[in-house]
Amino acid sequence: MSAAPTLRVPFCDLAREARALGDAIPAAFARVVARGWYVLGPEVAAFEAAFATWCGVRHAVGVASGTEAIQLALVALGVGPGDEVITAANAGVPGPIAIRAAGATPVFADVDEFTCCLDPERVEAAIGPRTRAVLAVHLYGRLAPIEALSEVARRHGVALVEDCAQAHGAARAGVRAGAYGRCGCFSFYPTKNLGAAGDGGAVVTSDDVLAERLRGLRQYGWRAKYATELSGGLNSRLDDVQAAVLATKLPLLAQWNARRQALAASYRCALAGADLALPAPTEDGAHVHHLYVVRHPRRDALREGLRALGIATDVHYPIPAHRQGVPLGRAPAAGLPVTERLAREVLSLPLYPFLSDGELNEVAAAVHQVLAAGGRGRGESA
Ligand SMILES: Cc1ncc(COP(=O)(O)O)c(C=O)c1O
Repeated sequence: MSAAPTLRVPFCDLAREARALGDAIPAAFARVVARGWYVLGPEVAAFEAAFATWCGVRHAVGVASGTEAIQLALVALGVGPGDEVITAANAGVPGPIAIRAAGATPVFADVDEFTCCLDPERVEAAIGPRTRAVLAVHLYGRLAPIEALSEVARRHGVALVEDCAQAHGAARAGVRAGAYGRCGCFSFYPTKNLGAAGDGGAVVTSDDVLAERLRGLRQYGWRAKYATELSGGLNSRLDDVQAAVLATKLPLLAQWNARRQALAASYRCALAGADLALPAPTEDGAHVHHLYVVRHPRRDALREGLRALGIATDVHYPIPAHRQGVPLGRAPAAGLPVTERLAREVLSLPLYPFLSDGELNEVAAAVHQVLAAGGRGRGESA
């Protein structure tokens, strides 16, 4: 067995962020410990208010994870057993898992090969008598064609829920992810554009009634303390430690997103001429590059070549939701050909705010080197 190559460029290194923040995170922890209020306390209320304002909506309801944000959003909208929710199969399993946890059936629609997001025409074709909602994922940080999806949902009288787990701050014409649908669901998993020091999530909405229901559902379905009146509730509360960390980082999010966008622009220049499909360009601000995902028909060989040169990569995601080991939802009779092809071809290169320009150039040089040595791509843009 050959020795593992020396890692020259990690996929992500959160310790760099912690170093850049200095004492700020330990100070946030210390503030919570000194107060002694750990769950749904003043730090949670303050972060919820700040995050709602940042998203341009009236309410943010902090919950325990992005998956439970989606589950509780659907329950709050009245989605349950016998209902169907249309979503994408190329965005990992949390969405489908959350839909199933709400009691409904995920129905997969194919995605657009350039945006990798739900194709509004295919969504419309998938709508049936049991459809109650569309869960649109802003995948990799790119705002989905949310206006068109919104129009489809409106025409058919179904709710539009946004999965914003990868798209904190993505915006078109000043409207940020989370402010388009009935509600937007966020994850604060540590590697997200806005990440906690553990798990966390939130549902944002401008609907007062929905927000009130969500506040009950995240805490056993309570309307008042010890009085459960909402079915489908959980223990899915946000901790004050996580809220304090998130509130500390929120003022830096725009700057970090701008750095991600600058790195993506640098990749576009540095990878020009490589026989590789790069992410399709977007309007300014509509992509916050949670991930930098390229495509190549011999993805696994390219990935192995990069690994041998010490460049870490990842695949988001190798197994579409309708191909998992347990049934997670229903695919159309015609299948999901674009989704299946993307699963074979997508490759995520390192991109996070603390990746250095030098590291980016190393990654790009390694990509050119591996492709020149034999990985042949199709050269079409994505
Ligand atoms: C697109 C998408 N949706 C939902 C989630 C679920 O978030 P969490 O891991 O906080 O449950 C994630 C994160 O993994 C995600 O990437």
